[in-house]
Amino acid sequence: MRKPFVVGNWKMNTDSHTSIDLAKRIASESSEAAGHGVAVAVCPPFVYLQSLTKALSASGVAVGAQDLYYELEGAFTGEISPSMLKDVGCIYALCGHSERRHVIGETDELVNKKVTAALGGGLLPILCVGELLAERDASQTEQVVSRQIKSGLAGLSAEKVSAVTMAYEPVWAIGTGRTATPQQAQEVHSFVRKLLAEMYDDQLAEEIRILYGGSAKPGNAADLMSQDDVDGLLVGGASLSADDFLAIIRSAK
Ligand code: PGA
Repeated sequence: MRKPFVVGNWKMNTDSHTSIDLAKRIASESSEAAGHGVAVAVCPPFVYLQSLTKALSASGVAVGAQDLYYELEGAFTGEISPSMLKDVGCIYALCGHSERRHVIGETDELVNKKVTAALGGGLLPILCVGELLAERDASQTEQVVSRQIKSGLAGLSAEKVSAVTMAYEPVWAIGTGRTATPQQAQEVHSFVRKLLAEMYDDQLAEEIRILYGGSAKPGNAADLMSQDDVDGLLVGGASLSADDFLAIIRSAK
């Protein structure tokens, strides 16, 4: 059985006070909300990671980074290495989020280097994939998702890949208020699981968690997570409200 996993991606939001307040409220109510049956993580901006890992150390809420760089150290101005993230208590790292791909311009090759470096540095990557609206309209969803997964995981053994969480985030649903229907999400999630079975093996495909992301909110979370292959949610906007995020965690039971 795959344990449901709900991840909050705070993006470039919060400040030193509101990040702690939000994290503490989530920590104090999430285990009660989820009855320990749900894994929960939050991904704050880099500058608040350390204060958050301290504030959350005694809670069941894990902390993840929104990105990382693939080199271990050196002259890479502005970048953050896997060992730095590990050092401040991070467990997870998002890799290839659509805003990194489409706003910042990250390529599949760069995302692969980041997934590989995260694993090498003892972090658990959450590999995000998803098609643009024009690609969906051109019936290219499977082609795009398959390319992103094959290149994102290139060169990694099944053992390494078993530590990866997948996140399907259709770009047209992110921050737009337009959610994929539970059926649309299930179709792609089931495709992803079959692809992983082909690339690795049935057991890996059965055990790997595939999250959905894109305008997830309290009103649609339960329906999305009721789908067989939707193992949790990667939540952006709604994770900035403790009430909404806790309601989403509750619906993952
Ligand atoms: P959203 O963002 O929930 O605000 O659509 C999801 C994400 O980008 O991970």
